[in-house]
Amino acid sequence: MDATRQQADFDALIASDGRVEPRDWMPEGYRKTLIRQIAQHAHSEIIGMQPEGNWITRAPSLRRKAILLAKVQDEAGHGLYLYSAAETLGMSREEMLDLLHAGRQRYSSIFNYPTPTWADVAAIGWLVDGAAITNQVPLTRCSYGPYARAMIRICKEESFHQRQGFESLLQLSNGTPEQHEMAQDAVNRWWWPSLMMFGPPDDDSPNSAQSTAWGIKRFSNDELRQRFVDICVPQAETLGLTLPDPDLVWNAERGHYDYGVIDWTEFQQVLKGNGPCNRQRIAVRRQAHSDGAWVREAAAAYAAKKQAAAVTEAA
Ligand code: 3HC
Repeated sequence: MDATRQQADFDALIASDGRVEPRDWMPEGYRKTLIRQIAQHAHSEIIGMQPEGNWITRAPSLRRKAILLAKVQDEAGHGLYLYSAAETLGMSREEMLDLLHAGRQRYSSIFNYPTPTWADVAAIGWLVDGAAITNQVPLTRCSYGPYARAMIRICKEESFHQRQGFESLLQLSNGTPEQHEMAQDAVNRWWWPSLMMFGPPDDDSPNSAQSTAWGIKRFSNDELRQRFVDICVPQAETLGLTLPDPDLVWNAERGHYDYGVIDWTEFQQVLKGNGPCNRQRIAVRRQAHSDGAWVREAAAAYAAKKQAAAVTEAA
């Protein structure tokens, strides 16, 4: 089939809200955008294990430790689903990890912030996983099949992540004055970086228009950010905590909450590698990859032995 017909068939599939599957013809730009976004998403999941993982040995109770263990393990699994989805586009996991370690593929800005207190684990669950759900539910309708299907299971697990964070924050907020203060301090530090998770303002988003035309993005960065703010304000009231934005106010005309100006210079600095924890996160990631080399080698040797045995048997 000639390229014109292939492009026409692809365009018709996207226009009919159909699903593109790995064996389908797709424009090179579509493939590249998906590899870029899915790899970034996968890297975010595994780097995101670090800020919370640091608290597993220091959780305040066996129950909190068990919940946190389950959550961090979930994030590893999310990374594996997403690396598998990206591999269907022709880039291997090894290549993606090499690009991450070399600073040539991104991970979410949010994971470059420190977690100095236990309340940070709760705030991450409520805000970061809450933002992730807001961003990920529309991705279950993404035009690329493997990505959309990975999102369905990931979103179910994210809901548990968000609920456990909210519950933990509520317990702290209703605890001693010191616990309440610790919860408020964590929310003060995580609120604005959580809004930045949704990406730059629509006017400064070079990828959004094409990603939307290809049915990868279903809503713009600002639309999802607004949806998240509207969800969080009443939840913060239930928590008895204040969101650190004096300009936050219900706008009856818009039917949404107005909110203050986001510091995009901070966002750009974090993307350039100058956030509070960028260097630490990548150093820990590289070390973990190096420490895990023996596992990969053992698995590869075992697979090769099995393969050789199967060939011998078939002969
Ligand atoms: N962190 C790092 N880089 C970001 C970013 C962020 N929060 N937001 C935007 N960027 C980058 C983009 O990658 C792009 O750079 P690039 O062209 O070099 O890749 C640039 O800023 C411009 O942004 P755009 O809006 O044009 O880029 P996108 O169209 O890709 O939109 C996005 C950005 C909304 C993050 C989109 O990529 C997306 O929806 N990704 C999937 C969701 C995701 O990755 N979430 C990360 C968190 S995962 C998580 O939280 C796990 C949970 O379990 C805790």
